[in-house]
Amino acid sequence: MIYRNATVDDISAIVKLQKKYHITTISEKDKPDGFVTTLFTEEQFKELIEKENGITIACHGKKIVAYVMAASWKYWAKWPLFQYMIDDLKDTEYKGITLSTENTYQYGPICIDMDYRGTEVLRKVFDFSRMQMSKKYPLLITFINHINHRSYAAHTKKLGLDVIKSFDFNNNTYYELGCYTSE
Ligand SMILES: CC(C)(COP(=O)(O)OP(=O)(O)OC[C@H]1O[C@@H](n2cnc3c(N)ncnc32)[C@H](O)[C@@H]1OP(=O)(O)O)[C@@H](O)C(=O)NCCC(=O)NCCS
Repeated sequence: MIYRNATVDDISAIVKLQKKYHITTISEKDKPDGFVTTLFTEEQFKELIEKENGITIACHGKKIVAYVMAASWKYWAKWPLFQYMIDDLKDTEYKGITLSTENTYQYGPICIDMDYRGTEVLRKVFDFSRMQMSKKYPLLITFINHINHRSYAAHTKKLGLDVIKSFDFNNNTYYELGCYTSE
């Protein structure tokens, strides 16, 4: 398995993986094993790659089998849910530290193709992304829908993220989670 930053040449494969597991297009069979919420256009993927170097992928041969997004809050601010999270950072503490757009970044979505779940891909693709972001930010912040039980288990039990709070947005309830980037 190769772990690397995505380039614009990878966008069409990432779009396909996004479609397979996005909440609006996922099959009923796959949904209980998790779904991604943020929907990116090809242009938004391009901006994420070119301005933030913010997509990590796992490749098995030529096949892209997983992706992880990570970026500054400036990049995420165009989505209403992230604007809500940004506004709330100043009222949120993690391990005694008040959160801000300077000391945190937003990680996610992460998506792993079904055949590669339950393997080391989760930890490896997560760490590849986290290590790069640790150069700029001490803390990682993310969110998970309360009904995404697999993602919650993966992030809390396997990756060691802590739940910071829960919040409601657009008729959904989400966990906000965080961790240090270099521990
Ligand atoms: C979330 C995701 C990245 C986790 O990676 P993964 O390789 O599946 O994670 P793992 O299988 O190693 O760990 C998940 C844990 O949840 C448990 N689990 C599996 N299926 C589950 C289910 N349907 N409901 C609840 N828990 C479940 C597993 O048992 C495992 O814990 P265990 O190994 O201690 O028993 C992956 O499932 C995925 O890409 N899902 C689709 C997209 C998604 O949900 N992204 C996250 C958005 S917040």
